[in-house]
Amino acid sequence: MAILKIARAGHPVLRKPASPVPLSDIGSPEIQRLIDDMLHTVDDADGAGLAAPQVHQSKRIVVLQLDDDRGMEVWINPELTPLTDAHLITFEGCLSVPGLRGAVARPAQIEVSAYDRTGAPLQLVLDDFAAVVAQHECDHLDGVLYIDKAIPETLSFLDEYRRYGAQSLLAPRGDELDAEGE
Ligand code: NI
Repeated sequence: MAILKIARAGHPVLRKPASPVPLSDIGSPEIQRLIDDMLHTVDDADGAGLAAPQVHQSKRIVVLQLDDDRGMEVWINPELTPLTDAHLITFEGCLSVPGLRGAVARPAQIEVSAYDRTGAPLQLVLDDFAAVVAQHECDHLDGVLYIDKAIPETLSFLDEYRRYGAQSLLAPRGDELDAEGE
C-alpha cells in the first residue's frame, strides 16, 4: 500500500467530473489497489473521507467514515438523493483545501445507492453528520468543492476557527450551528 499525494484546490483534476467505474472492473487489481491506497492515504491524513479525484484518479470512488464506531466505507459509483427539504449547517474542511473551515448548508437526510468494493450493491439512508460527509465526498466526483457551497463570510483559517469558535462566525447572520464536524 502507498500513501498517495493529495491534489489541492487549483489542480484541474478536482474540477473534472469523474468517470463511473465499470462493474466488471471493480475486482481488478488496479481498482482494488487504488482503494487500498485511498484507505491508507485518508488514514495517514486523519481525514473523514477521500474521493479518488483527490488522489489524481478521475474515478467515481469514495472512502469515508460515517461514524466513529464503523470503519471506513468504500463506495463505488454512488448516487445520492435528498430525502428532505430540511437543511443542516455544519463546518466542513477538506484535505484538498488545507487549513480552512467553512459553514455549508446541506440536506439533512439522503439516500445513497452505490456498490461496495466486492461489487455488491448497497443502499442506505443517512442523516446528520453522516449525510454531510457523504455529500461532501460525493461532490468531489462532480468536480465540486465545499468552498463552492460555503456561506462566504464563514470561511475561516483553522487557527481562527478554533480561537473564536464556529458559532461566532455564524452569529452575525443569525444562523445556528447544527453540529460541529471537523
Ligand atoms: Ni474534500
